[in-house]
Amino acid sequence: MATAQRWWLRGRGYIFILGQRWGKREWAIAVAGFSIVLLAFSFIISSDSSSSDHFSGAGAGAYDFVPLTFLSNAVQRGAYCLDGSVPAYHFKKGFGSGSRRWVLHIEGGGWCNSVSSCSFRKTTALGSSKYMDHQVLFSGILSRDQSRNPDFYNWNKVKIRYCDGASFTGHPESEPNNDTKLFFRGQLIWRAMMDEILSIGLSNAQEALLSGCSAGGLATLIHCDDFREILPKKAKVKCLSDGGFFLNEKDIAGNATIQSFYHDVVRLQGAAGSLKKDCVAKMEPSKCFFPQNIVKSINTPVYLVNPTYDFWQIRNILVPGPADPHGHWRKCQLSIRNCSPEQIQVLQGFRNSFLKTFSEFQQMKDVGMFINSCYSHCQTWMSETWHGPNSPKINNKTIAEAVGDWFFERKVSKHIDCPYPCNPTCYHMDFTGRRFH
Ligand SMILES: *[C@@H]1O[C@H](CO)[C@@H](O)[C@H](O)[C@H]1NC(C)=O
Ligand SMILES: *[C@@H]1O[C@H](CO)[C@@H](O)[C@H](O)[C@H]1NC(C)=O
Ligand SMILES: *[C@@H]1O[C@H](CO)[C@@H](O)[C@H](O)[C@H]1NC(C)=O
Repeated sequence: MATAQRWWLRGRGYIFILGQRWGKREWAIAVAGFSIVLLAFSFIISSDSSSSDHFSGAGAGAYDFVPLTFLSNAVQRGAYCLDGSVPAYHFKKGFGSGSRRWVLHIEGGGWCNSVSSCSFRKTTALGSSKYMDHQVLFSGILSRDQSRNPDFYNWNKVKIRYCDGASFTGHPESEPNNDTKLFFRGQLIWRAMMDEILSIGLSNAQEALLSGCSAGGLATLIHCDDFREILPKKAKVKCLSDGGFFLNEKDIAGNATIQSFYHDVVRLQGAAGSLKKDCVAKMEPSKCFFPQNIVKSINTPVYLVNPTYDFWQIRNILVPGPADPHGHWRKCQLSIRNCSPEQIQVLQGFRNSFLKTFSEFQQMKDVGMFINSCYSHCQTWMSETWHGPNSPKINNKTIAEAVGDWFFERKVSKHIDCPYPCNPTCYHMDFTGRRFH
């Protein structure tokens, strides 16, 4: 566990640095990416189930570290991270019946919405490949262990690193034309990355699943139909967005915090050109950064995994720092178990907004969903939440089983959980510093 500890400490370091240099709102939103890194590797997870063998499948021998590969066509294609460095990915070859099947997973990590927040991001792994770890752990949907990943374990797997700050939607025309060196190449990275992955075998795929977490889950929805286009017509192609369903809701002070944040991101990087055309024709482009306005116009089958008590959204959309100047929500944000009955009422209201939005997709045949009631964020990339004896379930299905049912059309897979605290299988994130609960 030494590696996990080191990452955990490094994660704390990032947050400390961010706290010193960032404006409050930029900090709050950008920090999420770091929180995820912090959480994923520090296992500050608590479960309502009393069993103590949560990590039994993650013994040292089961760790699968995959090296970083730099995009070889990047310079030729002008595809650069925010700082001008070369984007990167991690690739693990499939085997057996998985050799012509592909799962891609796009990394998350928030967005930058201003020259200053993007300039800061350049100095981190989310804006520059110079700072990326040279190997990452493949787990959850990327695991090669059949008992942890029953349907996709032997597929070719690619983890796409995120270093453009705008979910792969930026355009170079919007780069500052002064001494501030920032590259807005998200769309170019996307194309160059796809071409490279096609060339290493994706072009020959029989089945492919594009997935991503958080800002990567949003990128998955934005680019889902392009992904379908570049693959053979005969191939089965679908998209899975995990923790990528950011709701356009006002915060508790009545401010449209997330809408104005997305507005800034889209304007800064000239993202409109990468968003759904039929959406942009109907409304202000930044609104087309919200999944609720994207999903209806995606022609490829989509699966949505999202908790209705998404901690990232509670911290950044519903109760951002400025909306809670006296810190009444601080303890509740650290752990849902600390929330007062009144705060739980507010969270139930947020859940109702989710359910109302998802009800529009209930009738759509190809849209599947796993909408659970856990205090969490991304759930497909860790074995503990993806598939295991103690992982979160709805209707006795793990996320992996529910996604498999939908991908392989085994049965209708639309699962909506009962409200907190009804589901004893939840992994609720706990930021209070307790290692385990
Ligand atoms: C460069 O231009 C951007 C807007 O494009 C502006 O926000 C920034 O402050 C400028 N920086 C300098 C050093 O002039
Ligand atoms: C709400 O937004 C207004 C206008 O942007 C801002 O002046 C105010 O400080 C915000 N209030 C809170 C509590 O975030
Ligand atoms: C739940 O699923 C497991 C594994 O698929 C199965 O063994 C068990 O019988 C199921 N339990 C119920 C109550 O259906």
